[in-house]
Amino acid sequence: MSERIKQLRDDFDRELGSVTADLEATALRDRWIGRKSGLLTAEMKTLGKLSPDERREAGQRLNELKDHVESEIALLQDGFAGRRDAEQLVRERIDITLPGRRIDSGHLHPITLLRQKIEDIFVSMGYHIEDGPEIETDFYNFDALNIPSAHPARSPQDTFYLGDHLALRSQTSTVQIHAMQRRQPPLRVIAPGRVFRRDTPDATHNPMFFQVEGLLVDRGITLGDLKGTIEEFVRRMFGPETMIRFRPSYFPFVEPGAEIDYTCFKCGGSGCRVCKGSGWIEMGGSGMVHPNVLKTVGIDPEQYSGFAFGLGLDRLCALMYGIDDIRLLYENDVRFLEQFS
Ligand code: DAH
Repeated sequence: MSERIKQLRDDFDRELGSVTADLEATALRDRWIGRKSGLLTAEMKTLGKLSPDERREAGQRLNELKDHVESEIALLQDGFAGRRDAEQLVRERIDITLPGRRIDSGHLHPITLLRQKIEDIFVSMGYHIEDGPEIETDFYNFDALNIPSAHPARSPQDTFYLGDHLALRSQTSTVQIHAMQRRQPPLRVIAPGRVFRRDTPDATHNPMFFQVEGLLVDRGITLGDLKGTIEEFVRRMFGPETMIRFRPSYFPFVEPGAEIDYTCFKCGGSGCRVCKGSGWIEMGGSGMVHPNVLKTVGIDPEQYSGFAFGLGLDRLCALMYGIDDIRLLYENDVRFLEQFS
């Protein structure tokens, strides 16, 4: 019997040596000490046929062999489990020294950024932000703004008409009228918005563009107030050294009217590429609100006066960001827009 047990042990050790995976170890365990058909289990059952002395001896040996089988297989399975853990650690390793991944986020359009900056400045000076429709009647587009019936701005070559008396507004000055109808003086409003003109698109023209209109009406308002307001605005916008100049000009809804220039934000006035060597950049139109305009909305020009101004955002935006074609602002090409985040 002891010879046989020795043989069994050798057989087991050999089989143990060829196990390479966890499942094989389990199968080996079943084959040897499985409760129903294990080789050793069967062997144990034959003990009853032996004499008491032989039985004790063989029983002891068989138990030792069973312990050996159990502990060897447990050792093997521990080994496999350890390797599994190690492999998992490698697989799931996180390199915390790697730089983080950039999360793309949206951002505002450069025109919006500029508009908000202008709004902030005027709001801090006590102005309301006013809005008006983009489709207007002749009354708001022209009549109320004191634009004579034969004025070229009324021509269908310049304005997008939608019917006989409806058109896309060609300037935000229309919002002056809405503002004065909605509010009583004293009033201070700015009106940013889209305007439309039948221009052929090129590097400096687009049939739709943005303006910001300003209007202040109160008792005793003079050209000096207009000048002071614009000065304050350009200094906050472009820096405290910025200077302005007024050039007499004509707009039907103001009298007197003027174009405003400010010293170039790039060179400070000495002349550079941005200001085309002149040292000045055109800001927009302005003037003292025409008495006819005040009368149209029921404000007495003997008691009240006001100033108005209008500036374009597109060219300003192009100058500030060095954009050489304003059409880029409206093509929504992400490769262009993502530069402004
Ligand atoms: N609306 C004028 C334009 O589009 C700009 C302008 C000029 C606005 C004079 C004003 C102003 O308020 O007083 O060219």
